Amino acid sequence: MIKPRKVAIVGVGHVGSHVASALVTQGLVSELVLIDTDKAKAEAHGADLADTVCWMPHSARVWAGDYSDCGDAELMIIAASGPIFKEDRLEELAGSLDTMDEIAPHILSCGFQGLVMVITNPVDVVASYLRRKLNFGPNRVFGSGTTLDSGRLRRNIAQALGVSPMSVEAWVLGEHGDSQMIPWSRVTVGGQPLDMVPGGLQLDRQDIWERTMKAGWSIVLGKGSTEFGIGAAAAQIVRAIFFDEKRILPVSVLLEDVCGQKGIHASVPVCLGASGPEKVCLPVLTEEEKQAFIRSCQRLKEFEPLLLNR
Ligand code: 2OP
Repeated sequence: MIKPRKVAIVGVGHVGSHVASALVTQGLVSELVLIDTDKAKAEAHGADLADTVCWMPHSARVWAGDYSDCGDAELMIIAASGPIFKEDRLEELAGSLDTMDEIAPHILSCGFQGLVMVITNPVDVVASYLRRKLNFGPNRVFGSGTTLDSGRLRRNIAQALGVSPMSVEAWVLGEHGDSQMIPWSRVTVGGQPLDMVPGGLQLDRQDIWERTMKAGWSIVLGKGSTEFGIGAAAAQIVRAIFFDEKRILPVSVLLEDVCGQKGIHASVPVCLGASGPEKVCLPVLTEEEKQAFIRSCQRLKEFEPLLLNR
């Protein structure tokens, strides 16, 4: 029998519900289980989404369920969070780790054998913590990481050059947070290195880095949460996995010697296929870019003692 593409989303607030909507709208799932401590909210989202299915190009069964529905899911997406950050995602750490303490035993006891994608912030630290708690292999727990920031970067470069973000290939790497870095030497526009594109050398790169890094914050200030961007970014990651695309996206994986960095989760370009994160595809970086990546990893390493002492 053909296996359905079954996903469970844990936490259907602004982020989880928009991820759910993107998955259904893009026809990426056959079965979608919505889990939330607020069962009434999960049920309402489930019904609302189920109402869209007759207009979609692909059918999907969506329902508010429980961990007992997750034993045969291929993917669990963790989007549960406490209060949203005001300035720095790291403000959410304590609440998020408590939430992972609650969720982990359920994941373990339901017989789940699939992949776990963490979105809960601060995503790198939370992914690292949850993987250890679950004692899953290195590639089974990863974070959505800087896929979202990379979309924001592409938008910012595209706006400055007057082209479509779809014609920009650019990555944000390291922390999904304030220490994130951009390997500018690898940015291409319409296949051309950025430095060779008209206007490319004149771009205010520091300003673009800052606007990209602060984009989540400025959206949260404006409307209380971010949701559409993460919904679309998460859907791309799910698509790459379910269609075994071997697409390279920057997701937060357990580093095993990238620029000498190991033992923490941070975003690097990763080839995504049916087994999830299949291999790291780090581009050639300049010495300055390597140092910026290492600084970002060192920022994330500062949280290791806290995780180990819990
Ligand atoms: C974002 O950057 C809040 O981390 C989330 O949109």
